[in-house]
Amino acid sequence: MSEFPIPFNRPSIVGREFEYLQDAIERGQLSGDGHYTQKCHAMLKQIIGAQSVLLTHSCTGALEMAAILCDLQPGDEVILPSFTFVSTANAVVLRGAVPVFVDIDPATLNIDPLRVQEAITSKTKAIIAVHYAGYPADMDRLSELARSHGLFLIEDAAQALGATYKGRQAGTLGDLATFSFHVTKNVISGEGGALAINRPDLVDRAEIIREKGTNRPRFLRGDIDKYTWVDLGSSFLPGELVAAFLYAQLEQADEIRIRRCAAMLKYEAALQKFADLGRVELPRTPPGTTGNGHMFYLLMHDRADREAYISHMRRHGINVVFHYVPLHSSPAGQRFGVTPKALPFTDDTSDRLVRLPMYSELGEDIETVLKATEAYLAK
Ligand SMILES: Cc1ncc(COP(=O)(O)O)c(C=O)c1O
Repeated sequence: MSEFPIPFNRPSIVGREFEYLQDAIERGQLSGDGHYTQKCHAMLKQIIGAQSVLLTHSCTGALEMAAILCDLQPGDEVILPSFTFVSTANAVVLRGAVPVFVDIDPATLNIDPLRVQEAITSKTKAIIAVHYAGYPADMDRLSELARSHGLFLIEDAAQALGATYKGRQAGTLGDLATFSFHVTKNVISGEGGALAINRPDLVDRAEIIREKGTNRPRFLRGDIDKYTWVDLGSSFLPGELVAAFLYAQLEQADEIRIRRCAAMLKYEAALQKFADLGRVELPRTPPGTTGNGHMFYLLMHDRADREAYISHMRRHGINVVFHYVPLHSSPAGQRFGVTPKALPFTDDTSDRLVRLPMYSELGEDIETVLKATEAYLAK
């Protein structure tokens, strides 16, 4: 339970979660890859439009699977933004490879393709694009870089289920894409994630990696009469209770997105006057993209302004929160990664960004958040 009457995030039951949980228990299979996992796979394929989708226990797990699928070897380099969650980089480091941190484009807060281009070396094996706040990165330019240098392109779409880029769904824009259903995301299952695979040649191996490196998926399909250890792998799949809960949420994915986008519009409409006065910056929609209402953030003048706003809101019982200590300046980022150039936009954004409450049932609470924010910004 949050100590704030208006928390930053509040998980919602949106449909038939309890019914499906009971049904999953009555079906008698609580381990993974049962009835509800199959239903989630089909639904996610339909929502995302990817060639294959596999549920995982988290986006962290999906990123680790992606790193294995790219065959990352010790010394290989992977280019990614520093302005991201630790899991994007950990997946690389766990394979002995090196995360190369580059700056974001301040206009989109997504990885800057120009900075990616400068960072490519003979050791580069992959690029990871994070779709920050549910707005896809500049995938045309990143795809061109990946194609011309023979690199894997991975979308960290943890925040981006339902977002689009030039009419295409996030998750269909790279070789591989990873999603999160962590409780802070739009569609939730407590912990949870998925790997979308857009290259047919990677599908069989992905199934093996997810099942502890065994060919059990082929055994379950009746293709072979016993299964054995054939590759690297781990236990990346969730149990059926998680899948049952998630399926009920996925059925309402459109509703959730629409409600959150409406809340975003309300925030924007009320605060635009302060942006026009240069008092604050509002989220920008990168060209050709549609967001999914995942996050509403403000960019304050500087760190002191941001801290004063956070304190003001907390005094009013409202939790607003910063985002991401840049990975290149974190202790593990310095130990495991390299940062070829200064990252001024990452540092600046990390100092100034603050996220406002956003959840499906924000309802009337948004008026309270706006009133307190307007009072602060008008000072
Ligand atoms: C960009 C990004 N990548 C990866 C993750 C990890 O997701 P999970 O908690 O599902 O492992 C997050 C979680 O917030 C994220 O924001």
